Amino acid sequence: MSTPEHAERFAPRPPVDLSLAPHAAPVDDVAPEQVGGIGPTGRPRRHTPEPPGVLQHGPAKILAVCNQKGGVGKTTSTINLGAALAEYGRRVLLVDFDPQGALSVGLGIHPHQLDQTIYNVIMERDCGVRDVIRNTGVDDMDLLPSNIDLSAAEIQLVSEVGREHTLVRTLRPVIDHYDYVLVDCQPSLGLLTVNALAAADGVLIPLECEFFSLRGVALLIDTIEKVKERLNPKLEITGILATMYDHRTLHSREVMARVVEAFGDIVFDTVINRTVRFPETTVAGEPITRWAPRSAGAQAYRALAREVIAR
Ligand SMILES: Nc1ncnc2c1ncn2[C@@H]1O[C@H](COP(=O)(O)OP(=O)(O)O)[C@@H](O)[C@H]1O
Ligand SMILES: [Mg+2]
Repeated sequence: MSTPEHAERFAPRPPVDLSLAPHAAPVDDVAPEQVGGIGPTGRPRRHTPEPPGVLQHGPAKILAVCNQKGGVGKTTSTINLGAALAEYGRRVLLVDFDPQGALSVGLGIHPHQLDQTIYNVIMERDCGVRDVIRNTGVDDMDLLPSNIDLSAAEIQLVSEVGREHTLVRTLRPVIDHYDYVLVDCQPSLGLLTVNALAAADGVLIPLECEFFSLRGVALLIDTIEKVKERLNPKLEITGILATMYDHRTLHSREVMARVVEAFGDIVFDTVINRTVRFPETTVAGEPITRWAPRSAGAQAYRALAREVIAR
């Protein structure tokens, strides 16, 4: 029977417009002055020197790139910080720990076409981590990929003994080979993220320069404290990274000031500007340090790498 409500619900609708909205103009194609004067954090810009080369590699420092809010720049920061660390001669392993597989996509890999991912290493005894790690287009930077299979692991792990330490066990065989392992977390504080925190030496928190981002950070810091107390006493907050900063807007500047007021010195001096260059790099499947090596975005992630090495 067809009611008027029914007729309305199923009436033909105009086609949905899926064309891309126009991009905002890039704000940072020229690298701004990096040293001297007051930086966007409101502190004097400090110079972090070029790090010395390393003669011997490993054991790796594990950094979890973590924020339960989506779209704040976790994946972008993991790829580009990794690539910048590799430029400084560090051996880097990127771990895609989000079932969405965006990190793998950002490096030009189609995660749904992979036979073996981190899921297999976690769940199958005869699948070794070395078999699944792959090269990326960047020298000295490898990837442990993931895909949607990983979402099943989150459920399957619940009944495992030592479920929070699954990732650290998974990484143990390769830890001596790398200098940095960067774990790109999923946007939640669920069991996968707890595994990343339980494995990590430090947490890097990307924070979008937007009012609502501040609210979630208290909860994240609370979770970090709990993991430190109960599972991983060595865990520290390596730093908070302000992302998507737009110096032209008062809003961005106000949020930045609040972040520095609230968190002080753990906020990195390096601030990542909002620029269309980053979405472009995802399409290109390359880090910005290769896609646009002289851009302000690439310079910013190099500055971040220097700060991370120095901390
Ligand atoms: N600094 C930036 N300026 C503009 N867009 C950015 C910037 N950083 C990331 N993006 C874009 O924002 C979206 C979300 O970033 P992403 O790194 O995937 O966040 P998350 O991993 O936290 O969900 C992506 O489309 C990415 O290309
Ligand atoms: Mg992501």
